[in-house]
Amino acid sequence: MTWRANVLTLFPEMFPGPLGASLIGKALEKKLWFLDVRDIREHGIGKHRTVDDTPAGGGPGMVIRADVACAAIDRAREANPDVPTAYLSPRGAPLTQARVRALASGPGAILLCGRFEGLDQRAIDARQLEEVSIGDFVLAGGEIAAMALIEACVRLIPGVLGDETSPADESFSTGLLEYPQYTRPQSFEGTEIPPALLGGNHAEIAKWRREQAENLTKSRRPDLWTLYEKGKA
Ligand code: ADE
Repeated sequence: MTWRANVLTLFPEMFPGPLGASLIGKALEKKLWFLDVRDIREHGIGKHRTVDDTPAGGGPGMVIRADVACAAIDRAREANPDVPTAYLSPRGAPLTQARVRALASGPGAILLCGRFEGLDQRAIDARQLEEVSIGDFVLAGGEIAAMALIEACVRLIPGVLGDETSPADESFSTGLLEYPQYTRPQSFEGTEIPPALLGGNHAEIAKWRREQAENLTKSRRPDLWTLYEKGKA
């Protein structure tokens, strides 16, 4: 079954956007994955198709109505039963490569993009939405976060990246950040390619790369390093 992203948004014109370019876009053209984008406003209330209202208890901004969001989710689930449903929000659990791998190996994802001050909590609870964040910063809405999640998943679908590109060694796949890469010229502004990479000795190259990956992870991401050390024990 072909992987399918089902995006629920108030700004459908933002899609495919960057997902239409490069290898991800070519894979979309080749039908290696599918993108369905639905306007939440189709489920809006009344003549004006209202989707939001002021927060109960007061405060700034607007909140997406639970009835409108749930109608959009229910419609998407009719066509895609048993597909995980995520709500993109800075309050969500941080997205990890492990979660990306799990999502990529499933049938796809329904992705609800928030805007404004958020979504009525009753929609999150009633439809058991998985809240997902792409980092500790606040975007203007969930659309770019949904695109990031989709791109991370689609690049793992077999046939999407060229054969020569293997995700096996890259950051997070091994539990470590990726080692530095070099290419020609051999000398650039007085700096040489590390000699360990030039001798053609595969064991020496692998050892150098592992040391680099470990040192980088230790200094930049002590949180990942601790997990990595625990995993080895
Ligand atoms: N919406 C706004 N900010 C977000 C974030 N950091 N991650 C996911 N969705 C968001």
